[in-house]
Amino acid sequence: MSDKNRVLIFDTTLRDGEQSPGATMTHDEKLEIAEMLDEMGVDIIEAGFPIASEGDFRAVSEIATRSKQSVICGLARANIKDIDRCAEAVRNSERPRIHTFIGTSPLHRAIPNLTMDEMADKIHETVTHARNLVDNVQWSPMDATRTEWDYLCRVIEIAIKAGASTINIPDTVGYTAPMESADLIKRLIETVPGADDVIFATHCHNDLGMATANSLAAVAGGARQIECTINGLGERAGNTALEEVVMALKIRNDIMPFSTGIDTKKIMAISRRVATVSGFAVQFNKAIVGKNAFAHESGIHQDGMLKNKETFEIMRPEDVGLSGTSLPLGKHSGRAALRDKLEQLGFEVGDNQLKDIFVRFKDLADRKKEVFDDDIIALTHIGGDTEDDQLKLVTLRVACGTGGPAEATLVLDIDGKEHTAIERGDGPVDASFKAIRALHPNTANLQLYQVNAVTEGTDAQATVSVRLEEDGNIATGQSADTDTVVASAKAYLHALNRLLVRRGRTGEDTKEIRYTDAN
Ligand code: KIV
Ligand code: ZN
Repeated sequence: MSDKNRVLIFDTTLRDGEQSPGATMTHDEKLEIAEMLDEMGVDIIEAGFPIASEGDFRAVSEIATRSKQSVICGLARANIKDIDRCAEAVRNSERPRIHTFIGTSPLHRAIPNLTMDEMADKIHETVTHARNLVDNVQWSPMDATRTEWDYLCRVIEIAIKAGASTINIPDTVGYTAPMESADLIKRLIETVPGADDVIFATHCHNDLGMATANSLAAVAGGARQIECTINGLGERAGNTALEEVVMALKIRNDIMPFSTGIDTKKIMAISRRVATVSGFAVQFNKAIVGKNAFAHESGIHQDGMLKNKETFEIMRPEDVGLSGTSLPLGKHSGRAALRDKLEQLGFEVGDNQLKDIFVRFKDLADRKKEVFDDDIIALTHIGGDTEDDQLKLVTLRVACGTGGPAEATLVLDIDGKEHTAIERGDGPVDASFKAIRALHPNTANLQLYQVNAVTEGTDAQATVSVRLEEDGNIATGQSADTDTVVASAKAYLHALNRLLVRRGRTGEDTKEIRYTDAN
């Protein structure tokens, strides 16, 4: 396969994905996701929007320093201050890129109130400035799919002449359709002077459920960079899902003869990690990474699968990093068996992490006869208490039943001292949350409370996600336990601990500037 058929994968989980309300990640989580993206072969990582907050700046610059393979890119609006800040953040990368953009459609031009000529001058000035700071500049006409054709061609030509080497065509509001997406890229490449010397990228949103189809169509039209996020994370209906476009190009290479550099075996691990840290669970029937994507439960399907797997399976679970084995572990399984299982499941853990997971595994195995693969995966993703937590659960007892409110008796360790509260509520979870609030009064709004069973059976672990919002800061907490109420209380405490950390770092992780602001 020639280089002209190589499609670059540009991941924007840490920028467009993290920008999604409620998906805010901590600094360490961003570093961890960036490392996983780098290791899985993502060509370009858009690590954040450096001018948006101190937290974004710090994350982009540390990712730039640490990354080994990927190009590290930061986002900047079309102004000198944004671009300078972005250049400073990506400076330490071996391969830095500045991605600058401006909304070019009539609706977006109206926001900064610029005439077509004024905007064209601004594009020339800002792309030239970015190009003077780094060699690798990407430019995007935001809302390109609703921009007048002649004007789109004119501004792209200006950006190319000013030195942009990647021209990204965003379908910002998820409006285009596959035929149109292919045609737009094809005609731009045929029409705009200098188009042959740059890479055209496609950046689709999923408002009409067509992001994957539109991205692949754009590739058919000549685009050679797909912008996407893990699990399709992103504002509103999300962005193009990385796992979908990558697997589609791999499995249907017969009709789409394009390659990527992605190690597809790493897809499941990063999908789960992004779901955990963003608090956005993956829907069960989501293509490629959903819990049911490889489950064949109906009788007819199982019969067919036993005779020949290809009857109902177009790709192998192993191709995306799902283990073919599912022999459960039990309370007599030792550290070596656990390490072996973790390796089979695609997790490389250091000695300290193994020690921590082993303690929690033993605790779980004492309460649950068989510990399945999904239980182990939950143990790797959902940590226990950490030394730094200000609030720790000591004990929780709840009395509940028909004909009256539930009553929770809770003991919390707050900064090393134990405190007790007894509260009543509308059910065991409500009573427990009230008891937490009695011991740690707070004004955080509960935005999300979600429970999922990890495996089947009445002794299954429940994973609980809790999202809290306080003064514009959003924190998500997770926990897993065989007792749903205990998992709920721990998830609530996890989110509160994270809010406390954020409160301590003024401005951090607060998006002071959003990309939809006037440029
Ligand atoms: O959707 C969009 O237009 C964007 C741009 C900033 C590229 O995310
Ligand atoms: Zn976008």
